[in-house]
Amino acid sequence: MKTVSTTPFQDQKPGTSGLRKKVPVFQQQNYVENFIQSVFDSLEGFEGQTLVIGGDGRFFNREVIQIAIKMASANGFGRVLVGQGGILSTPAASNVIRKNKAFGGLILSASHNPGGPNEDFGIKYNTGNGGPAPEKVTEAIYARTKVIETYTICETPDVDLDKIGRVEVGSMDVEVIDSVADYAALMEELFDFAAIKAMIAGGFRLAFDAMHAVTGPYAKEILERRLGAAEGSVKNFVPLEDFGGHHPDPNLVHAKELYDLMMSDDAPDFGAASDGDGDRNLIIGKGIFVTPSDSLAMLAANAHLAPAYAGGLKGIARSMPTSRAADRVAEKLGIKAYETPTGWKFFGNLLDAGLVTICGEESAGTGSDHVREKDGLWAVLLWLNILAVRRESVKAIAEAHWTEYGRNFYARHDYEDVDTQAANGLVAELREKLDRLAGTSVQGMTIAAADDFSYLDPVDGSTSANQGIRILFEGGSRIVYRLSGTGTSGATLRVYIERFEPDAAKHDVPTPDALADLITAADEIAGIRAMTGRNEPSVIT
Ligand code: G1P
Ligand code: ZN
Repeated sequence: MKTVSTTPFQDQKPGTSGLRKKVPVFQQQNYVENFIQSVFDSLEGFEGQTLVIGGDGRFFNREVIQIAIKMASANGFGRVLVGQGGILSTPAASNVIRKNKAFGGLILSASHNPGGPNEDFGIKYNTGNGGPAPEKVTEAIYARTKVIETYTICETPDVDLDKIGRVEVGSMDVEVIDSVADYAALMEELFDFAAIKAMIAGGFRLAFDAMHAVTGPYAKEILERRLGAAEGSVKNFVPLEDFGGHHPDPNLVHAKELYDLMMSDDAPDFGAASDGDGDRNLIIGKGIFVTPSDSLAMLAANAHLAPAYAGGLKGIARSMPTSRAADRVAEKLGIKAYETPTGWKFFGNLLDAGLVTICGEESAGTGSDHVREKDGLWAVLLWLNILAVRRESVKAIAEAHWTEYGRNFYARHDYEDVDTQAANGLVAELREKLDRLAGTSVQGMTIAAADDFSYLDPVDGSTSANQGIRILFEGGSRIVYRLSGTGTSGATLRVYIERFEPDAAKHDVPTPDALADLITAADEIAGIRAMTGRNEPSVIT
């Protein structure tokens, strides 16, 4: 073991999902070591305890894992559990932490961002409940990164990450574990695998795009081997360090091939995809894309059809920009709906306190109290379980849902890599005029209220302010503006646009048409074109 002198970096602030930077930034001497030491220095009582380590397999994953193992040993952890090949999907890592009562875990991922020598990397610390560290921990880590002077590391050879089994690093045990087994077992506990298997045996066809990312091995095992989907149902299943040069982001832009397949005459019954680290999901039925906000509402309304949720839901939580479709399901079920800031970490307290069972975000994250991360394959399996019981198409289920609850037309417009000053200026100007907006009209619609979302955590009493600007119109339409907390270059302005339509006769309209006046209003209110110089969003989801 040796102690190494170092000097701090000033840019190691963990964002919504841990520390995210380009690979060359992480490759600077001592950059990784400083951050990991700052994490350990911010924790107490881990001596002799277990640390889980795993990542999504992207470029630089193995190198960081070796460093993390040697530093965990030097810092006094008793045991490290690491996924074979360095692979653990984010939800699988959460499960391994919980199941083994680990002290915490290091998850190496930049989620849906591209990977490769000049692309993105990330390190996130999760606590013993399996969820992302709360803000007070990430703030302590950040404070520590600014003053750190030394780190400690074991001078031992690299661990063979490909060989399942136990080795010693210093006086610490390292167990290389099967990346998939525990997770697959958990899914079998939650869902009616026999019913899904019977449906598939009866001719139901599915396509799952793993996007050359971490869910490949999980989806192969669960969907093809255990549930009997035809070989080839899981596409792009080999995790690659650069995701084959693509964005492992399961949206209509980056999973276009799947989308086109699902809209074609030869579409299978069900299509889905997951992202780089396996926590996001894209759901597409034959001829119908289900927005993540709708998916959350539809899963919540039907969850009782799966064994794990047969007893009903305790509550439903959604992030603020997520459409309010789920709120009406909660209302009907007579349970509470919670609205939290963006980022999965805010769901952790609600889940731990037993206030909610299901949570979701508009950004394709859905999950439940089975782990403390959003979970892409979980959402896929819950859909499959529901389809197996209802024996109706995705389209029929969606349309029946809208008829019963009304439809929330919804779109997110992202303006990526915008000049940071311009983006900050836009938000500052909006904030400044918030008080004057209520009662005014835009595009013939009256603004009922406008605010900057602030969240009071009902469990720990903490407040998170400035979480996004909400413009609420009379009749239930809404525009939300916020700046991304996960981008790695420039600023990303996200504009979330939603219109509630209770009348079933008006549901069969293309979303852009249904939202046209709100889209114009969004620009009029915030001056997006004028302030960012962009005439249209970079991505619409
Ligand atoms: C984005 C999503 C957010 C999600 C986060 C991590 O954050 O919008 O819902 O929790 O990625 O996956 P943002 O870039 O908007 O801060
Ligand atoms: Zn992700």
